Amino acid sequence: MRLDKATALVTGASSGIGEAVSSHFRREGARLLLTGRKQRIDNAQPEDLYVPGDLNDEAFVADLARQAAETFGTVDVVVLNHGLQASSPLADMAYDDARDVLHSNLLSAFLVMKYFAPLMPAAGGAFVCVSSRLGMVGKPNEVLYSAAKGGLIMLAKGAAIEWAERNIRVNVVAPGLTATPIIEASFQRKGDPEAQRRQREAQIPLQRLATPDEVADAVLFLASSESSYITGAVLPVDGGYTAF
Ligand SMILES: NC(=O)c1ccc[n+]([C@@H]2O[C@H](COP(=O)([O-])OP(=O)(O)OC[C@H]3O[C@@H](n4cnc5c(N)ncnc54)[C@H](OP(=O)(O)O)[C@@H]3O)[C@@H](O)[C@H]2O)c1
Repeated sequence: MRLDKATALVTGASSGIGEAVSSHFRREGARLLLTGRKQRIDNAQPEDLYVPGDLNDEAFVADLARQAAETFGTVDVVVLNHGLQASSPLADMAYDDARDVLHSNLLSAFLVMKYFAPLMPAAGGAFVCVSSRLGMVGKPNEVLYSAAKGGLIMLAKGAAIEWAERNIRVNVVAPGLTATPIIEASFQRKGDPEAQRRQREAQIPLQRLATPDEVADAVLFLASSESSYITGAVLPVDGGYTAF
C-alpha cells in the first residue's frame, strides 16, 4: 500500500475530485482527516475524522490543525483540493465575488499550509495542491479563477523551495475539465447537456473530460514516495489542453 499508516488531510472532500482522492487514499492505507463546508458528508467512513468548516476563516484552520495534532500527532500528507469557481466577464464581476474566488482558492490554501507544515514529521511530508489548467492559460470569463489558480501554482513553487530543507515536498496537479457533479450540473443548467458536453470535449486533444479517478491517481502519485524526488512541479491532467 502506497500510503500505509500515513495520515492525510484532504480538503474539499465532500464531492467530486476530493471524494475520489479520499477513496484512493483510504484504499492505499491512509488515515484520513477530511474537511468541507457541508455539516455532513456521505462519503466519510466511520474510521475517518470529518471536520466541517470554512477554510477562509483562520480560526477554523487553526482549530482544524489543533484537532489533527490531538488525533494523529503528525500529518504526513495534505491535499489542498478545495476551490470555488465563478464565471463572469471581468468588468461585470463584483468586488466581493472576486475576493471570494481569491480567498477560496488561494488565501485559504496559504492558511492551511501555514498551520499544517508545522505538523509534518521531522522526516518530511507532502503537500499536493489541486490547481487547474486555467492556472496555466487564460480564458475569457474565468479571469479571477485563473488568477487564483495561477497564484496557487506560485504559492506551491515558493513553498517547495522554502521547505525543501525539511524534506517537505510541494507539488501541483492541474486538472482539465473533469466530470464532477458541479460540472455535470453546469451542463444541465445551460440546456441540452449532451451538446454542451460535445462542444467542451471538442476543445480537448483527447476529446473527453477527465474522470475524478484520473485526477486522484495523479494526486496519489505526488503524495506517495513514488515521487520522492519531485518538488515544485506542476502535473497537468488535462487531456493535452495546455500542450497547445
Ligand atoms: N471539476 C473540474 O472540471 C475542475 C477542473 C480544474 C480544477 N478543478 C479544481 O479541483 C478542485 C475540486 O473540484 P470539484 O469539481 O471536485 O469541485 P466541487 O465538487 O465544487 O468541490 C469543491 C470542494 O471545495 C469545498 N470548498 C470550497 N470553498 C471552500 C471553503 N472556503 N472552505 C472549505 N471548503 C471549501 C467545497 O465544500 P462544500 O461542498 O462543502 O461547500 C467542496 O468540497 C477545485 O479546487 C477545483 O477548482 C476542478
